[in-house]
Amino acid sequence: MTAGAPRGETTETTTSSTTTTSSAASDAAALESDLREGFFDDPPTLPPRWFYDEKGSLLFDQITRLDEYYPTRAEAEILRARAGDIVGAASTMVELGAGTCEKTRVLLDVFAGGAGAGGAGAAGAGAARFVPVDISTEMLFESARALATEYPGLRVDPVVGDLTALDGPLPGEPGGRLVLFLGGTVGNFDETQRAAFFAMLRGTMSPGDRLALGFDLVKSPQRLVAAYDDAAGITAEFNLNMLDVIGRTVDCTGLDRRDFRHEAVWNAEESRIEMWLRAVRDVRIDFPTLGRGRDLAAGEGIRTEIARKFKPDALVDELADHGFCGQAVWSDESGDFGLALVVVDQGA
Ligand code: AVJ
Repeated sequence: MTAGAPRGETTETTTSSTTTTSSAASDAAALESDLREGFFDDPPTLPPRWFYDEKGSLLFDQITRLDEYYPTRAEAEILRARAGDIVGAASTMVELGAGTCEKTRVLLDVFAGGAGAGGAGAAGAGAARFVPVDISTEMLFESARALATEYPGLRVDPVVGDLTALDGPLPGEPGGRLVLFLGGTVGNFDETQRAAFFAMLRGTMSPGDRLALGFDLVKSPQRLVAAYDDAAGITAEFNLNMLDVIGRTVDCTGLDRRDFRHEAVWNAEESRIEMWLRAVRDVRIDFPTLGRGRDLAAGEGIRTEIARKFKPDALVDELADHGFCGQAVWSDESGDFGLALVVVDQGA
């Protein structure tokens, strides 16, 4: 297995050829395991990774352009202002949950030089390596191909897989890696998952390697809810699409998107937005391959995502507990979104 490839997937990738073992069978097995893990709990939960089939990835792309959805724009403002500081002397950039790699371009311009610049950036000609990691195969390879064309000096090595299950040392030279985890996706983890993620990540990195972590900030519940329940209904469609993904991925009966409506709520106690699919009538969903079913009464919901909103100091402390030493914390002009730059302690 390629170093740094997520468990259960193998990738052998260059900019010109690609093989991957990601398959319908492994998707079904992964979903069955996620269903066993959370769908029969109270409340039932499904992990957000099942939003991102090709349609879901396109819907998310639309979300990032909505008036109500400020995080993408706010983060882009920070990346533009701080690109030089973030890229620094990195020789390999690893982006977790890369998606379309749209927000990464401002960093790649510094890292590998813009179109036609021939990789005269921080890493020097020929040395710059970009490793986008994502579970959405089509989008990942499409953007990897585009980037390889746009940045001739850049080596692009896409990895298909689950960013919570990276295996072994990350690609690149120890001490020269910059890991990007942007967009506020860290907010999708609860406290336990976040601690496990930081520990896992620390295990794949070396002293001197850096992490740039984007995170959403606490603000008025009205603005937060609007960001996850937009007037055009794109987020509703994004949420409901998960039911279609599930119906297609595992054997099931009684699952119908028309039985559910989208809901976004602010949970003040947990400092998070929660996305729910609320049953509008009594439903029963059966999973023959699991030998289990679940009744949902009208008004009961399935929680599909949490999006934690942070206070910067608490997050920086958590990172320090995992051996990441704070270098900088930035926010956009409006104070809507944050970006932390941390380095793996030399002594750790
Ligand atoms: C991609 C996880 C950062 O939590 O804001 C957007 C996903 N969900 N609208 C977020 C999302 C609903 C997004 N992240």
